Amino acid sequence: MLYTDIVMDHFSNPRNVGEIKDADGMGEVGNIQCGDIMRIYINVVDDVITECKFKTFGCGSAIASSSITTELVKGKTIDEALELTNKDVVQQLGGLPSVKVHCSVLAEDALKVAIYDYAEKNNKNYKGLEGFDPNQVNHEH
Ligand code: FES
Repeated sequence: MLYTDIVMDHFSNPRNVGEIKDADGMGEVGNIQCGDIMRIYINVVDDVITECKFKTFGCGSAIASSSITTELVKGKTIDEALELTNKDVVQQLGGLPSVKVHCSVLAEDALKVAIYDYAEKNNKNYKGLEGFDPNQVNHEH
C-alpha cells in the first residue's frame, strides 16, 4: 500500500475543513508544478492558536497534510506552531511517498503564511518568522 492508514483516514475523513470567517490570520499557498492550492485559517487568543481550519484544492496527500496540521497546531502557542516543519507532518502521517513530500511542504508554508498574516495585522514579532518572506515560499519541490 502506497499510503499509510493515517493518510487514508485524514484524506477520507479530513478534520477542520472549512473557512474561518474574519480569521485572525490566513495563508494561501500553491504549487506551480501540480497546481494544488491550500489555505489555512487561524484564530489566536493570547498567542495561542484557538482555532484552525483549512481548505485545500489539491491531491489526497495535500488534504491529509493540511488536516493533520490543523490538529497539530490547535492549542499550541504561535512559537510552538512555528516550529512545525513538513518533516513533522510527514512523520505524523506515518510517512508519505517521496513524490508526495512536496504536499506536506504546502501545509508548513500555508501555516507560516497564516501566522505571518496574523503577526502583520497585529504588529507582532516572532522569532520563528525572522527572515520569512511569504512571497518567497518555495513551491518548486
Ligand atoms: Fe501537489 Fe500534492 S500533488 S500538493
